[in-house]
Amino acid sequence: KILILDFGSQYTQLIARRVREAHVYCELHPYDMALDEIKAFAPKGIILSGGPKSVYDEGAPAIAEELFELGVPVLGICYGMQLMSCHFGGEVVPAGKREYGHAELQAQGTPGPLFDGFFVEGKSPVWMSHGDHVEKVPGNFEVVAGTANAPVCAIQNVARNLYGVQFHPEVNHTPRGELLIDRFVRQICDCSGQWTPGQIIEDAVIRIREQVGTDKVILGLSGGVDSSVAATLIHRAIGDQLICVFVDNGLLRLGEGDQVMDTFAENMGVNVIRVDAEQRFLDGLAGVSDPEKKRKIIGGLFVDIFEEEAAKLSDAKWLAQGTIYPDVIESAGAKTGKAHNIKSHHNVGGLPDYMKLSLLEPLRELFKDEVRAVGEEMGLPHAMVWRHPFPGPGLGVRILGEVKKEYADILRRADAIYIEELYRTGHYDKISQAFAVFLPVKSVGVMGDGRTYEYVIALRAVETKDFMTAGWYPLPYAELAHISGRIINEVKGVNRVTYDISSKPPATIEWE
Ligand code: XMP
Repeated sequence: KILILDFGSQYTQLIARRVREAHVYCELHPYDMALDEIKAFAPKGIILSGGPKSVYDEGAPAIAEELFELGVPVLGICYGMQLMSCHFGGEVVPAGKREYGHAELQAQGTPGPLFDGFFVEGKSPVWMSHGDHVEKVPGNFEVVAGTANAPVCAIQNVARNLYGVQFHPEVNHTPRGELLIDRFVRQICDCSGQWTPGQIIEDAVIRIREQVGTDKVILGLSGGVDSSVAATLIHRAIGDQLICVFVDNGLLRLGEGDQVMDTFAENMGVNVIRVDAEQRFLDGLAGVSDPEKKRKIIGGLFVDIFEEEAAKLSDAKWLAQGTIYPDVIESAGAKTGKAHNIKSHHNVGGLPDYMKLSLLEPLRELFKDEVRAVGEEMGLPHAMVWRHPFPGPGLGVRILGEVKKEYADILRRADAIYIEELYRTGHYDKISQAFAVFLPVKSVGVMGDGRTYEYVIALRAVETKDFMTAGWYPLPYAELAHISGRIINEVKGVNRVTYDISSKPPATIEWE
């Protein structure tokens, strides 16, 4: 297994994903992880992430000096490389200007075991994002490559298995970056690549049985990929000891409640209790328009309802959740202040202390693509496994401002038409996430001979691999025209449809 030490880069998660994609298990920990803990973790390799600070800043994050003496291969990325350079007597200087974006790497000398195949005709396109760069290379290192702006962009000490790169191999914009990380973990660190869906399931089933024993477990089933896979996994491990609670919060997509009941209760024979809580959520949200407040209210009510259900099932000892690794990382970052918290997440850390249930989170170590692979391996329907992600707060964050039932009903119908058309035209599977957004503003239109004054629906479709950055999907004009026509004709209360052409960043995927 590989240890990734996080110095606060927005890209750190991606490093972990790339390692997992090489079928190697890895964990991400804060940079100040104690040396004893690192030794106990016994990594076969260590990756140092990038970070927002400069190595010479007051209080700049540092690492235990002995880290480089463990005899374990180390790959330093960006800040990680600068830290490594300083440690071995090199020099880092602030660049005249920040370098951000594409750059062409120029190879120098022989590539060596890590960089072999990374260059084609001595060049490799890479993604840069840094202020400082290494000016003087430490004595025992050799330069592997540079760019016009930064002469030292990749360094190595092959004898000691120490490597540093100024660019970001973990982002998709570095085309051969995946290869580099694969090579580092499988060849340099000699990890064998046993992190496969079959193995993950087997391990999880054993672990769940050990953890839970004969206790009862309740799980909040939402119909999304994560909770569905969690339910299936736990059901496989402990059968009828699992009781799923499906909270219909009134903020679900059209027909979603019935679909969830069909799949799990009817087809798979899972115990599912359906709670109709629409009115409670609407009451709780009345008059509230701040997105963060809305998220907290929805998350809070969710917990309250669970508590009530748990009280009815007095012998339940565990609360299972479909928390996945990115949620864990994001929440940890929010707590330690090491990564910038953009939106609060309601899946993690929302449980009050007085709640007597212990947490069971069988997907806690998995990335989304791993969750999907596990779901498919367990035979969940393709459409369910590959369904676009749906946020925990549901339509609550797709109705801008105050949530009202009238708005939710309009949005549900518009969204259903949009998604139906995306399936029909074959675009759905090419899009990472698509949905409609309700804008509580009215605009003037004309229908037949009459003037209309009605709401606006915005359509969003994005392409992304990691949901950290995303581009808008170029849906053909003809499809847009057809979808817009259908929504305006079929959904009463809407007379205007717009298409969102913002990328993330600077926009986010959801509108709230
Ligand atoms: P943003 O809007 O931050 O969304 O670009 C990135 C991804 O996260 C989903 N999302 C959420 N999922 N609870 C969730 O379970 C939330 O509070 C939440 N907010 C955003 C969003 O749908 C997208 O896939």
